[in-house]
Formats: sequence, structure tokens, C-alpha cells
Amino acid sequence: MFLMEEFGNKIIEWYKIHKRDLPWRNTNNPYFIWLSEIILQQTRVDQGMSYYLKFIEEFPTVKELANAEDEKVLRLWQGLGYYSRARNLHFTAKLIVENYNGVFPADFQEIKKLKGVGEYTAAAIASFAFNLAHAVLDGNVFRVLSRIFGIDLPIDSTKGKKHFLELCNQLLDKKNPALFNQAIMEFGALQCVPKNPNCSSCFFIGNCTAFSKNKVFELPIKSKSLVRKNRYFNYLIITHQQNVMIKKRTENDIWQNLYDFPLIETESSTDFTELKQKIKNHDLLKNKSWTLEKVSPSFKHVLSHRDIYTSFFHIKMDEQPSINANYILCQVSELDNYGMPRVITRYLDFNLAEIN
Ligand code: ADE
Repeated sequence: MFLMEEFGNKIIEWYKIHKRDLPWRNTNNPYFIWLSEIILQQTRVDQGMSYYLKFIEEFPTVKELANAEDEKVLRLWQGLGYYSRARNLHFTAKLIVENYNGVFPADFQEIKKLKGVGEYTAAAIASFAFNLAHAVLDGNVFRVLSRIFGIDLPIDSTKGKKHFLELCNQLLDKKNPALFNQAIMEFGALQCVPKNPNCSSCFFIGNCTAFSKNKVFELPIKSKSLVRKNRYFNYLIITHQQNVMIKKRTENDIWQNLYDFPLIETESSTDFTELKQKIKNHDLLKNKSWTLEKVSPSFKHVLSHRDIYTSFFHIKMDEQPSINANYILCQVSELDNYGMPRVITRYLDFNLAEIN
């Protein structure tokens, strides 16, 4: 082990040698930092990078983001998933313009009040943008601290969270909070990784409790394992001449405000005969003349708590479909103008030619 005070110096020393050059690290503009942190909340750095660059190019200031159309923000976010982040981002940009005169608040408690900003994100913004002494505690930090200090309290328990937060605030280099926070997260991201960490090359090998007790693979500990659920989405791609039916997702459910196709959701994987009956009874198709032209295989789409099994039924209508308030009949060539979830855009990438 080592003295608590040594930890900060040591992790910063490691960071200076090993850090990646990431665009949001070369700025202390709070708007850019906030944007990067929201993108990185549930997204890997290599995937989030192009989105970050696209957003700051399109909206160089919080005011420009605030003035954007909802649809445009969602369209730029398309493919990142967890779309409530994009909605909160836009909401918060407007709030900063209206309530803070376009100037990002420079106080931890004020930052934490912003929609979509929790304890971790507030500490990240406060330290990276304003060098305020708030320690970040994310999955990387939990792992690093649980291993180096050999802490076996569950990281998803109230007691565990409190203990780890106190510890990282104690360890925080109060003179260099931004540098310390970047360093500990980077160490978790690059060296003290979840699976197969290369302990023999680790800077902390002589200080790591988990390594000395052969517990690297047991730590950190979680009390609950996530219960995954399945959902079954059967999409109807209903076309008439050059047009296709789409629908805005307004319900309180995943992908709110994005567009998808008319949907028959089933409780389980359903056989074709039963599904065909449901299709016949669908509002848009009942008593109409149509042909089922193609049925896709079932695709599995993995979200954080759900696996979504999706299939697509291509249906050609012989007559103009009745216009129903919930649906939009749009030209196939204009589908691009609508923000759609990744399951759909990925399918269209390979199958658009068959819809025209
Ligand atoms: N993940 C979340 N915030 C990050 C940051 N600032 N740098 C690298 N990865 C991150």
C-alpha cells in the first residue's frame, strides 16, 4: 500500500505519459464539456467522437443548440441510442439561454440541477470546466478504487456508493481536480480494464490490494445482476406507389419522438399464421386490398435492459391507404428526413431498394 496523498501524484504521473488526445480535453468551454459528457454517458469514446465533432460544428454555442429545431437535434443524435439524452440536451440548452443568459452555471449545485446531469456528470463539468474540487465517480473509478484498495462493498448499494464517493473525494488532488479526475478515469479506461487487465505492466502493481490477494477478477462487486427482458416488434412497411406509412412515437416508451413504421408488438415470438391474422386486423389494412411481398428474418437488437427482436413485413397496398391522424404517408425518398431508431435505419440501409 501507499500513503493516500501519494495516490494523486502517482495517477497524474501515469496520465501524463499515457493519456489519449481527445478533443474535449483541449478546452475548458463548459458547453463543449457538458456536450461531451452527455454523449459519453452511455457511449464509448470511439463511437461518441464523431457525434461530438458534428454537434460542435453544427452548434458552436449553446445558443445555437437552443435555437435548433427538435427534429434536427434528434436527427444528429440518430444512431447513438438513449434518445432522452438528446431531448434533455436540447431542453437544457434552452434553459441556459433563458434562465442563465446563455452563460453556463459555474457552481456544482447549479450544474447538478440541470436535466440529464447527475452526480457524476456534475462533478465532471465542475472539475473539467471550472477546476472545482469535486471527485468523479463513474464505472471506471469504482473499478480502479475497488481493486487498488481491495474494497468489496457492492458498488450498486447505497453504502457502497457512499463509501466510494467519500474515498475518491479524500484522494482527490484539491489543487488539480481536473487533472486528477481525467487521470483516474483514463486509468480505468486504458489500464485497469474490466476483462483481462495487463497487471504485469501496471504502474500500481506494488500498490494494488486486489493483485496481491489475487482478487482482480472478483472486483468490483455488484449485488444485483440485471434482469434482461425481451420485446418483439413486428414492423409493417406499408407502401402505396412511392409512399410509405410512418408513425411518430409519442408514447411514454423507448425512442420517444423518433419515427418508426406501424408496429404490432407481441408478448413472445409469434408464429407466422397468428401474425398474419393480426396484420389482417390492423387498422390500416382491415378490409383493404394489399399483398404481403416480403417477410424479413428476425433481427436481435441489444439495448441496456432489453433485447428487441424485430421483423419487417413488406406490404404493398393496391389503393390509397386511409389517412389516420397517427400516421404520416411520406415519400420513400424522404425517409431520410425523419429521425429513426437504429434498428430501422440499419434495416433500411440494406433493404431500401425493395421498398421503392
Ligand atoms: N467518459 C466520460 N467522460 C470522459 C472523458 N472526459 N474522457 C474520456 N472518457 C470519458
